[in-house]
Amino acid sequence: MIKPLRKAVLPVAGLGTRFLPATKAMPKEMLPVVDKPLIQYAIDEAKAAGIEEFCLVTARGKDNLIDYFDVAYELEATLRERGKISSMAALESSSVPAGSLVAVRQQNPLGLGHAIWCARNFIGDDPFAILLPDDIVSGGRSCVAQLADVYQQTGGNVVAVDEVPADRTDRYGILKTGKDDGSLVEITGLVEKPKPADAPSNLAIIGRYVLTADILKPLSEQKTGVGGEVQLTDAMAEVIGKVPFHGLRYEGTRFDCGDKLGFLEAQIAMSVSRPDLGAAVRSFLKKYV
Ligand code: G1P
Repeated sequence: MIKPLRKAVLPVAGLGTRFLPATKAMPKEMLPVVDKPLIQYAIDEAKAAGIEEFCLVTARGKDNLIDYFDVAYELEATLRERGKISSMAALESSSVPAGSLVAVRQQNPLGLGHAIWCARNFIGDDPFAILLPDDIVSGGRSCVAQLADVYQQTGGNVVAVDEVPADRTDRYGILKTGKDDGSLVEITGLVEKPKPADAPSNLAIIGRYVLTADILKPLSEQKTGVGGEVQLTDAMAEVIGKVPFHGLRYEGTRFDCGDKLGFLEAQIAMSVSRPDLGAAVRSFLKKYV
């Protein structure tokens, strides 16, 4: 029987150095795109895929992220008193059902694979999604929901993939591919951040995964890879052949908000598509470009 997908792990322990000084006293996942912090986009996408349990893998100095999902009692009372109904509605989206969000600490920045391993007790024996909140995926059905559909059909691992320019393979986990129907591609190998000359394809993993708990065994070995870090990609490579493994060319657009340009592009794309802001943003953009 294929277990239903109900859990998500969100690694949020990164230092956010690319956004200093903005991230000096604030987690980068709290940076807003229009009026929602990055972490909220990831949680909304997971909720839309039927995820009910969330685990944030945090680090020192990132407790704001946990406070964000708490009830803001004084603020809510003040808004209610003043009859600010629309502000109250905006706050509602940032709440999660009681007890559905937990946090674990990644005490040392040893890599993405190590961050996921820190959530092992939360994961238990269940399938789980991973969402890297640096990536916003918009313009289609929830990307995790699309991955969840594939997981339901195959019972195995599935990652969201994008074609990237050949000279950028060294920024991503790259697929070695088998059967490919144009949407779903069988994965026969995975390499973390290969140089363009060594890349087995130009299909790159973006920050969305659905994995079975089988990944915990290779992760527990904590072998280090590229950059001296415990790489999730290396652990995933070890379960190929043991668990069905596919890449999905998802519907939608990914914005890499871990990068300044990607972050700015997301601000523009997300604001021009908003009914309340789109027309005004288009018109003032003309002034500058
Ligand atoms: C991580 C993963 C990489 C993946 C990327 C997606 O890299 O290690 O395989 O392609 O996320 O954003 P990072 O961006 O943390 O260097």
